[in-house]
Amino acid sequence: MASIVPATWPGAAESSPTGTGDVLRPRRLRATAALRALVRETRLDPAQFILPLFVRSGQGVRVPITSMPGCAQTSVDECVRDAQAAADAGVGGVILFGIPDHKDAEGSGAWDAHGPVADAVRAIKRSVPGLLVVTDVCLCEYTDHGHCGVLVERRGRTDVDNDATIALLAREAVAHADAGADLIAPSDMMDHRVAAIRSALDAAGHTDVPIMSYAAKYASAFYGPFREAAESTPSFGDRRSYQMDPANGDEAIREVLLDVREGADILMVKPAGAYLDIIRRVKEATGLPVAAYQVSGEYAMLHAAAERGWIDLERAMLESLVAIRRAGADIILTYFAVSAARALSSGR
Ligand code: PBG
Repeated sequence: MASIVPATWPGAAESSPTGTGDVLRPRRLRATAALRALVRETRLDPAQFILPLFVRSGQGVRVPITSMPGCAQTSVDECVRDAQAAADAGVGGVILFGIPDHKDAEGSGAWDAHGPVADAVRAIKRSVPGLLVVTDVCLCEYTDHGHCGVLVERRGRTDVDNDATIALLAREAVAHADAGADLIAPSDMMDHRVAAIRSALDAAGHTDVPIMSYAAKYASAFYGPFREAAESTPSFGDRRSYQMDPANGDEAIREVLLDVREGADILMVKPAGAYLDIIRRVKEATGLPVAAYQVSGEYAMLHAAAERGWIDLERAMLESLVAIRRAGADIILTYFAVSAARALSSGR
């Protein structure tokens, strides 16, 4: 790579007139907090944070998620309180994941107009109208086998049936939009689901509801704690026939370009911390708004190390978030949304 220091930069390779050494002294701009703030290139804005929430049926229910300190599965009433607290802290939005009472082979709870997600969307839009409500569209929380789509036997192997699944995802997306969701976020990684969802939304009169596609979603070990939270661990096998191989970068660009062609409005990369290069490439390849999901395992790792006194949680949290922004993400989905918003507003 060519040097980014232009040869014309005053003082380049010259010595100081006072004879005290080279005139290039980068530390000058780091001397005080005011100078550092003046030249800071990247800032975090809570309006660009989205807080994930896990919603289930019942009243007054709050079940802590042990591997994700501070996070819980809640009933709709408690979910509204969490959404209100997020809005009060300046957080831009929430993304809802549902835990249904009953699961079946096709995940029919996913398009239940009176399931926890649809109920929570309506309740939050009523009580906290300024907050963006995003819904995760996927079948894994709703299927009894825990895969992100319906299963089919083919050539001696059980597989997720792509085209049968996208029809169901489209139904789920329309149910969420009917309930009042502001933004639809499909996370299943089936081929052509963005097109299927876009045309179903349009046909249902939701032409103005944007799609935030989990466009480059990797088959990652960092989802471990989420699967406890969402009760969505596959009962057999893994997700490697639909989620991406962590070794691939060019493929991420092919995936996102397909989603752009199919009508995705916002592109998501997931996980975030181990995929900063992908965030940057997606931003450069598309110029579209890019979201990054700092996933459950990233959150759990920082908490676990901090609990042992090995790292400072607040500093590590803010550093991990600013790195995601610096890589090129506009939007960050993070379980730290509220704590980070509070830390930022207290000026730390
Ligand atoms: C699937 C989904 C997952 C996450 C968000 N949506 C899990 C998976 O693919 O197994 C992971 C989020 C996290 O780990 O925080 N619906």
